[in-house]
Amino acid sequence: MEKEKLQALLHDMSLEEKIMQLVQLPGQTFEESAALTGLADMDKAGKMKTLAGSVLGLHGADKIKEIQKTYMDNHPHNIPLLFMLDVIHGHDTVFPCPLAQGATFDPEVAEKGAAVQAKEASADGVQVTFSPMADLVRDARWGRVVESTGEDPYLNGLMTAAMVRGYQGSDIKDKDHVAACVKHFAAYGAAEAGRDYNTCEISEHTLRDQYLQGYRAPIAQGARLVMTSFNTLNGVPSSGNKWLMRDILRDEMGFEGVLISDWGAIMEMVNWGFAEDLKAAAAMAMEAGVDIDMCTEAYSDNLEALVKEGKLKEDLLDEAVMRVLELKNDLGLFEDPYHGASEERYKEITLSKESRDLARDAVRKSLVLLENKNGVLPLNSKKIALIGPYVDEKKTHSAWAITCNDDNNITMRMAFEEEFAGSDVQVKYANGCTLVDNDCDLGFMKFHSDTFEEDNEKLLAEALEVSDECDTIIMCLGESLMQSGESTSRADIRLPKVQRDLYNKVKEKGKKLITLIFTGRPLDLEDIPQTSDALMIVWRPGTESGHGITDVLTGKFSPQGKLSMSFPWLVGQEPLYYNRFNTGRPKPAEGNTIFTSRYLDCPNEARYPFGYGLTYSDFEISKVKLSSDKMHKHDCGTTLDKNRKSDCNLNETIKALVTVKNTGSVAATQTLQLYIRDMAGSTVRPIKELKGFKKVSLQAGESAEVSFEITEEMLRFWTASNKFESEPGKFKVFIGFDSATDNEAEFELI
Ligand code: BGC
Repeated sequence: MEKEKLQALLHDMSLEEKIMQLVQLPGQTFEESAALTGLADMDKAGKMKTLAGSVLGLHGADKIKEIQKTYMDNHPHNIPLLFMLDVIHGHDTVFPCPLAQGATFDPEVAEKGAAVQAKEASADGVQVTFSPMADLVRDARWGRVVESTGEDPYLNGLMTAAMVRGYQGSDIKDKDHVAACVKHFAAYGAAEAGRDYNTCEISEHTLRDQYLQGYRAPIAQGARLVMTSFNTLNGVPSSGNKWLMRDILRDEMGFEGVLISDWGAIMEMVNWGFAEDLKAAAAMAMEAGVDIDMCTEAYSDNLEALVKEGKLKEDLLDEAVMRVLELKNDLGLFEDPYHGASEERYKEITLSKESRDLARDAVRKSLVLLENKNGVLPLNSKKIALIGPYVDEKKTHSAWAITCNDDNNITMRMAFEEEFAGSDVQVKYANGCTLVDNDCDLGFMKFHSDTFEEDNEKLLAEALEVSDECDTIIMCLGESLMQSGESTSRADIRLPKVQRDLYNKVKEKGKKLITLIFTGRPLDLEDIPQTSDALMIVWRPGTESGHGITDVLTGKFSPQGKLSMSFPWLVGQEPLYYNRFNTGRPKPAEGNTIFTSRYLDCPNEARYPFGYGLTYSDFEISKVKLSSDKMHKHDCGTTLDKNRKSDCNLNETIKALVTVKNTGSVAATQTLQLYIRDMAGSTVRPIKELKGFKKVSLQAGESAEVSFEITEEMLRFWTASNKFESEPGKFKVFIGFDSATDNEAEFELI
């Protein structure tokens, strides 16, 4: 439909019709079996279902077509309903969780995965996905770190922009694509003490310099929606934060799409003590520019009165409605209200071999090998025991793969049986213990078993028996699916006690020990790194779990993943992130550390830092060589935030070069990481910031030269003059295999 026709349609709509375009109902309103969970009591919503503009949580091509038809037949202007769903890391074919995708350091993995998800979801009737989550995460206690690509804003930007490309393709009208929604704007990841939905206090400097960075790239990539966050930011809930939504998101970042509240977030402004009542909350959210009210009655009950009382300008309402209509129009819904929904197509493409292969590849690339002593991996044993609750666990996805049918997930046992069928390798299996401790709180339920002790004694006895019959043990341990995700903050980030007890008993057997950790967050791994011969983080790998992990264990695929979040020694170090400030009293590497910034009982640094991960080979890297030790900066005028890219291309660049050699005996892929440190700034600068990375695949003995181009743009930050700009002075350049590298060179910006 042309823009003029949309305008005409808008003018022809009644006030009530317009308001209802801004109301989103939960799927239960239309269909009892909707795949979602909810907070709000939406009984009354039933009455609104003839006019509400969008619905969340529904899928199923035929069902959606039927709902759409009935809806449009009853709608006074036959405007189509918009169907939204959380498709976060898989619809049917489930890819590794976003934190694991971050660990691939490979945006192509994220893009291809998102394209598969879009195709499956679209055929299943979905038109908008609430993904990607671009929140910067620094605190492993926060359960939602599983949904982020990690602790680095640059990496987050690359990965989430790639996801937007995958979801949206070149045109969201295309039936294999859906519209993407960047969330949660803004700074949701900074929840105090890692407790979900909690307050965020961040200076404007840190907000702009760090937290907002990750959202820029997916928004610039053209994501069609943005979602507000649940948190307050410096005392103001996001859904009522006019400065954040209008000045920053729309004016500075140039976002023109639909802004939707998070579930119930407009209503929650009353709980926060920011709005007196729902009516005040509705007015604040409209003023802030929140177009769609997700699942509360704030807009449906109050906007009409607010307009009639002259407290809300109808123009403001019209702008919001227009944005929703434009999204529907861009999806092509006025011509084809069913978009990609098709049972036949869904059956044909879902869980296809091609999609599963991509998911398997994503798993292999996301696994992070933290320890490998004496080359225990790849496997070379003929007598293996797989022990632990993840041997047969099918729920290897995350809680945000809400449509995942775990019958499709490949367990460790399934993959090993397939791999070693008919070979001379003997594999024994034992679950060893329950997945979680008795009475463990799993959000929707408490795990409880009256026979917990007896069951675990039996499971342990089996595990010890199979331990005796093998020479190599692969421990399959980890958090439960329900221990990461929304509302799953943990103050103790160790493995469940029942698993720790199992591990301690099994390790006494003195066999070669390989430990796999299924997790949605960094964990305190206690003595596992010292007492295991090999240790690998396998995250929440999804459908192809067993296959992807087995490919790496057997050496068919050489591991290459790098941590997307730092792993601590102890929970007390959280929040923990590599790109921190130096302090005025940095702890020296050696010598007297009293009166320096330190812990008495724990190192300052991560146990395994951001960017860390081993391969099956060894690599050497030469010292960093720079093409010049000076970079001349031209004065190119404006450094306005939204125009940052186009500011100036006159500036010089410096080439940073290293030679990297595979000194081991097998081919492997290493990820070279470029970090920069601004040695002095008008506001203090992080000790390192990731500015680039490159994957290099080398045969044994082979070497290669790898170079990075350092541009003036990489040196910019939010300065004391409240601008994104670079400041003259000294910079250090680091190139290495992880964020702890000290392989450095220096140059000056003049
Ligand atoms: C979550 C969002 C999600 C929404 C809709 C909320 O509880 O915070 O990330 O998109 O629900 O399911």
